[in-house]
Amino acid sequence: MRINSPKMNIIYRACMKASKSIIRDFGEIEKLQISSKGPGDFVSAADKRSEEIIIDELLKSHSDYGILSEEVGEINKNNKDNRWIIDPIDGTTNFLNGIPHFAISIGYEEKGEIICGLIFDPIKDELFFAEKGSGAFLNNTRIRVSNKKKIKDSLLVTGGPKYESSYREDIFNEYIKVSNLVDAPIRKFGSASLDIANVACGRFDGYWQWEIKYWDIAAGLIILKEAGGFAGFINNNPKNIVKRNIIATNPNIHQELQDSLLKKNIE
Ligand code: IPD
Ligand code: CA
Ligand code: CA
Repeated sequence: MRINSPKMNIIYRACMKASKSIIRDFGEIEKLQISSKGPGDFVSAADKRSEEIIIDELLKSHSDYGILSEEVGEINKNNKDNRWIIDPIDGTTNFLNGIPHFAISIGYEEKGEIICGLIFDPIKDELFFAEKGSGAFLNNTRIRVSNKKKIKDSLLVTGGPKYESSYREDIFNEYIKVSNLVDAPIRKFGSASLDIANVACGRFDGYWQWEIKYWDIAAGLIILKEAGGFAGFINNNPKNIVKRNIIATNPNIHQELQDSLLKKNIE
């Protein structure tokens, strides 16, 4: 890996170990036991296995560090200075339907700031990673955001809304509104971490989504930033530490996209 720092090495090791289990499970998808966690949100045995492996590895390296992870929530809650943010499989619905588009996402935060992170798509064998001040990479090649200047010419990606969202109607209406501004139809790929990673490497020009969770985007934030992109948050409720509304784009189209979105307080 082009970044050889202790923290990157730790998350890389944890990720590679978990990815072996994910690949195995993906191959046997129909045998997986699925339990429902609520409408639009399923959790699989594979998620849990991947999470366990990652957390185990991370705690082996630093037993006192905080962890925020999708399935187990918080570990070592009082450590606010050093924290791992984990999504063991981002793109669960794709995974469960045999669609090869999902990723492991692990970020490392110091005093509330994301310092490094990686997003790994084990099927395409694409590893996106970045550390503050060292640039962003895809499989050891330096990446940068696109240079598109106008929303009209941009390829945008979004996700949601979740079935249970109180803002479903508004979000669908916004989707129509933004769709009318762009030449190419907006994409929905079902993995927020890969959506951001794909903005970071210039495949997409912009991504936005309401009511996303912090573990979906944490690693993506540093990868995007180090690739020259810009992530902003809209109407965030400072009391809600997990839920975010995000716009992640190349720097040129950020304002134009933000101006086109809902002018609503979605918390
Ligand atoms: C989901 C994916 C999806 C996004 C959802 C997330 P999960 O994560 O990132 O793209 O639209 O909001 O919950 O449940 O597959 O880890
Ligand atoms: Ca996720
Ligand atoms: Ca997940």
